[in-house]
Amino acid sequence: TQQAERQRVLDTLRLSREQLLEVKRRMGEEMSRGLAKETHPGASVRMLPTYVRSTPDGTEHGDFLALDLGGTNFRVLLVRVRGGKRRNVEMHNKIYAIPQEAMHGTGEELFDHIVHCIADFLEYMGMKGASLPLGFTFSFPCRQNKLDQGILLKWTKGFKASGCEGEDVVLLLKDAIQRREEFDLDVVAVVNDTVGTMMTCGYEDPHCEVGLIVGTGTNACYMEEMRNVETVEGEEGRMCINMEWGAFGDLGELDDFCTEFDRAVDERSTNPGKQRYEKMISGMYLGEIVRNVLLDFTAKGLLFRGRLSERLKTRGIFETRFLSQIESDRLALRQVRSILQHLGLTSSTCDDSILVKEVCSVVSHRAAQLCAAGLAAVVDRIRQNRHLPELRITVGVDGTLYKLHPHFSSIMLDTVRDLAPQCKVTFLQSEDGSGKGAALITAVACRIRDAGP
Ligand code: BG6
Ligand code: GLC
Repeated sequence: TQQAERQRVLDTLRLSREQLLEVKRRMGEEMSRGLAKETHPGASVRMLPTYVRSTPDGTEHGDFLALDLGGTNFRVLLVRVRGGKRRNVEMHNKIYAIPQEAMHGTGEELFDHIVHCIADFLEYMGMKGASLPLGFTFSFPCRQNKLDQGILLKWTKGFKASGCEGEDVVLLLKDAIQRREEFDLDVVAVVNDTVGTMMTCGYEDPHCEVGLIVGTGTNACYMEEMRNVETVEGEEGRMCINMEWGAFGDLGELDDFCTEFDRAVDERSTNPGKQRYEKMISGMYLGEIVRNVLLDFTAKGLLFRGRLSERLKTRGIFETRFLSQIESDRLALRQVRSILQHLGLTSSTCDDSILVKEVCSVVSHRAAQLCAAGLAAVVDRIRQNRHLPELRITVGVDGTLYKLHPHFSSIMLDTVRDLAPQCKVTFLQSEDGSGKGAALITAVACRIRDAGP
């Protein structure tokens, strides 16, 4: 029957507990491989050192600028940090658009635009000519040999400005500042958004030793023992590792769980074959998976009376917001239908609405479970590092999908508790984005630098 055929297809998007445990196991394996010095052919999960060696302790203070590039919004921020007994953080920020031309043009155009926004912000704050230390949240994979360096390894999330890969983004930013000849900036730290988020949440909760993003893209960082970080000298203490887990699966580790829909989304993206785990989880891609399932159902005559509209064939029509809206429990079916109509899918019936909602829920459920399986590997690794029978840990988390989706967070929580039963995991949502964390990191670096050798 038609119903059986629909369920047969949806079943390919459902993962068993055994499969999730296998994802967890493979993630754990890639983490170890990524941390090792020589790996052939190299691990999919890069495990990048960040040169951040501790979480905040409340003594940080000073005025800082922060840039936040790589999520839905580009922001410039002024962060005032007060330490000690009356510690608090005051933030001012302005959101700027990154036009398509800047994302897809040359690196110079992109960085000129960024510097233009900084200039506008300084003017807006009445701080023209000020030269504050700056923390740069740059949410892409970067190789760091020190805190104030970030060699872009590869663009992700649809960015593709030319001439940036292989370059140090601090130098690209400094060059653009020089071209403008208007002000000088002291770039002190390059910070991934996961790291910024961990630090932001760590300011409130000292147990926060993991940072997680589930937004446009997905990624995690955590505190690793220095003795395990083979690519950095020294054995003592810990260092935060930016996992770049979005690339998990790029060596085929997820092939046996991928569906034809995942392959279709990957093939038509700006980076085919790359960021395979991210493409099954994050906001930039979930809507596309859904659209591909709906296309398949329609072509088989199981949906929209078998009529393939031009609209449904258009890439990117289902934004992240769409899944969150459609899965909201408060929504009557009639409203689901009106969302579909709004998208231009006019011929939908009541049954169509039920089915579309089911497709959305299967796709986002799988995303939350996959994400939890990765996280289970991370927290269990931390627990084993410390030889503990049980670990209490807080995960600082941010990202539009996590925050806006009605069920993502609870599915993730249930699943991670199930897959890592020896870890008592608490999630702490960042309310301030990662700019605050970047400023805290910058504060510590300035204090150490100013103390001098
Ligand atoms: C924000 C951070 O709060 O979360 C950004 O400040 C980050 O740097 C973002 O990239 C992730 O969410 P999204 O959904 O905007 O990609
Ligand atoms: C992408 C980026 C990564 C970032 C994540 C979340 O995976 O490569 O650096 O942390 O998106 O924004």
